[in-house]
Amino acid sequence: MTIGITGAGGQLGGSLLNELLARGAKPGEIVAVTRTPEKLAAFAAKGMAVRSGDFDAPAGLAAAFKGIDTLLIIPTSDLRPGIRTPQHKAAIKAAKEAGVKHLVYVSTVAARPGQDLMQSHLETEQAVFASGMKWTIARMGMYFENLFMGALQHALATGHFGATGPAPVANLARDDVAAALAGLLLGSGHEGSVYHLTGGASLTPAETAATVGQVFGKPVEAAIITDEQYAGGLKAAGLPDFVVEAILGIAQTAAKGMLDVVTGDVERLAGRKPVTLAAFLSARKQAVAA
Ligand SMILES: NC(=O)c1ccc[n+]([C@@H]2O[C@H](COP(=O)([O-])OP(=O)(O)OC[C@H]3O[C@@H](n4cnc5c(N)ncnc54)[C@H](OP(=O)(O)O)[C@@H]3O)[C@@H](O)[C@H]2O)c1
Repeated sequence: MTIGITGAGGQLGGSLLNELLARGAKPGEIVAVTRTPEKLAAFAAKGMAVRSGDFDAPAGLAAAFKGIDTLLIIPTSDLRPGIRTPQHKAAIKAAKEAGVKHLVYVSTVAARPGQDLMQSHLETEQAVFASGMKWTIARMGMYFENLFMGALQHALATGHFGATGPAPVANLARDDVAAALAGLLLGSGHEGSVYHLTGGASLTPAETAATVGQVFGKPVEAAIITDEQYAGGLKAAGLPDFVVEAILGIAQTAAKGMLDVVTGDVERLAGRKPVTLAAFLSARKQAVAA
């Protein structure tokens, strides 16, 4: 069986390729599709097929997907409103043309209408269901790694961890998403299933702040701020409006409690428990302190 991965040149894609190999997948049975094949030269050297594929250039996609039995689609990182759904639909259409039998789509916990980022996942899920191919949906929670986009540094510098509401979130490490996806791809019986790849525990902003404080040995407490204050901080950091809108959308989703979802799906699929926030941060403590 040949497994294809789109977006293979990204961080989740790279982690997934390594997980597949670590779990005994044969390089010759993996097709890595990316906009930047040169980044995956080390995988090509191991015998993996590395092909060029860009959802913004749909004409070449069916050729890139040729011979693939199960295709895992990693969502694109394009946050411009209204762009991702057509990108993903182009990939689904090309997969059908190429004769792919089983689609696996990496969606998000809290896929829903009304917020562009979440809506693009919902619309993609619906296109996957309607595709006529077998399907599996893996909805992932938010990464612990997102803390490194400024929130952790801010918390350590000011003692305040900002959130727009007190609801807990069950975030997880990117590598645990990759491990679960690898287990899914190399396992059987997952057609027609919707999984939720979440952390093993849901943490309130106060609990997250306390964990950061314990790991780094500094007092850190949660600060519940308004949407306007949250967005203002992102704008002040120089982020463009559409990125601010997307990140605020995630914060609002969290504040409504929609990321307060804990399942056993990562452990079931990966064969191991997801790492805790404390363990994740402890493993990166030196790099942050440096
Ligand atoms: N759950 C979370 O907290 C969280 C956080 C950040 C991102 N995400 C989502 O998860 C995805 C994977 O995360 P990551 O950590 O691997 O992010 P990343 O390293 O920034 O990777 C970006 C991904 O987008 C793909 N991409 C961008 N434009 C594309 C296009 N025109 N056609 C096809 N693929 C395109 C890239 O594929 P190539 O470069 O290989 O072409 C790559 O897989 C992101 O794209 C984003 O949708 C989730």
